[in-house]
Amino acid sequence: MSSSKQTVIITGGNSGLGYECAKQIAEHDNHYYVILACRNAAKAKQAVSSLIQETNNNHISSMELDLSSLDSVRSFAEEFSKMDYPPLYALVCNAGVQFIDATHYTKDGFEITFGVNHLGHFLLANLLLDKIVPDGRIVVVSSGTHDPLKKTGMPEPVFTNPQLLAHPDIASSNEPVSLLGRRRYTTSKLCNLYFTYELANRIQQQSGKKITVNAFDPGMMPGTGLAQSYTPFLKFIWNYVMPVLTLFVPNVNTVRQSGRALANLVTDPKLDQTTAKYYEGKKLINSSNLSYNNDNQKILWKASIEMTQLKQTETLLKV
Ligand SMILES: NC(=O)c1ccc[n+]([C@@H]2O[C@H](COP(=O)([O-])OP(=O)(O)OC[C@H]3O[C@@H](n4cnc5c(N)ncnc54)[C@H](OP(=O)(O)O)[C@@H]3O)[C@@H](O)[C@H]2O)c1
Repeated sequence: MSSSKQTVIITGGNSGLGYECAKQIAEHDNHYYVILACRNAAKAKQAVSSLIQETNNNHISSMELDLSSLDSVRSFAEEFSKMDYPPLYALVCNAGVQFIDATHYTKDGFEITFGVNHLGHFLLANLLLDKIVPDGRIVVVSSGTHDPLKKTGMPEPVFTNPQLLAHPDIASSNEPVSLLGRRRYTTSKLCNLYFTYELANRIQQQSGKKITVNAFDPGMMPGTGLAQSYTPFLKFIWNYVMPVLTLFVPNVNTVRQSGRALANLVTDPKLDQTTAKYYEGKKLINSSNLSYNNDNQKILWKASIEMTQLKQTETLLKV
């Protein structure tokens, strides 16, 4: 392995957008060593061997990471630091879940959409900060569904108190679980933006590093595993009917198109200095008005430190 190589970690890289992003980066040139950080070791190994076959680049491997367990996130960071991988250049926070069938919880007792999509990535990024090279990159996969003005058909996010997101009061909610689940999803994607902007800001002010942090909307990508909890009928529509929309509806994309745009945020030298921005595919746009609320960004940051019990010894940033 050449010493000039640099490592890129992609969470949930075994399928969907993460897989396509890994493929584009591995195909880009031989400069990158790609690690798929996945919860299912068997699926991850299978993805690694397909990627090696498809890209002819054998600098791809996997490591176990379950974002629904804070212990697993800590073990991942510890294992990574023990391994002899090339310097860590980029972290792509891609893994995500949406449940519309019931309320599920992480191993630590947090509502799972908030726990996996936000908290797990919050802890992971903090633990890896001292390992990322000074001019490295973090890319957070959000979604246009966080922005009501985009009229995606998804319910508006509701961000009041992070404690309520982590421990929802189900008994006093009148919303059907399918609506609740979709709202939890859009709210977690708003949290991804609060996290992106606050992390970018804190890195600039506190770390002495020039690591950039940007957020990404892949657009709608019908056919991915995100619809795992849908009814069989809705899954059929998602997998076989909606892909037609990629032909004529703006911001409805194939996974390949969005994977290329996501990979570009890691590899494009023109983005060396770009931080705290939001991209819809390759287009720089504004995220929702609410996502720029500084108070909410700070409230979420503080609550996330408490929930993950992040210690000063674990991160470069002030706790
Ligand atoms: N599809 C869309 O229309 C769309 C639109 C906007 C944004 N996004 C975002 O794009 C990202 C990728 O989603 P996708 O559409 O590619 O769906 P996907 O195919 O289901 O990919 C999600 C990935 O996350 C992994 N994952 C789930 N829970 C995890 C956990 N606890 N720990 C570690 N990994 C976990 C999954 O692993 P398993 O294979 O083991 O389940 C899978 O590899 C998500 O952040 C999603 O919110 C998707």
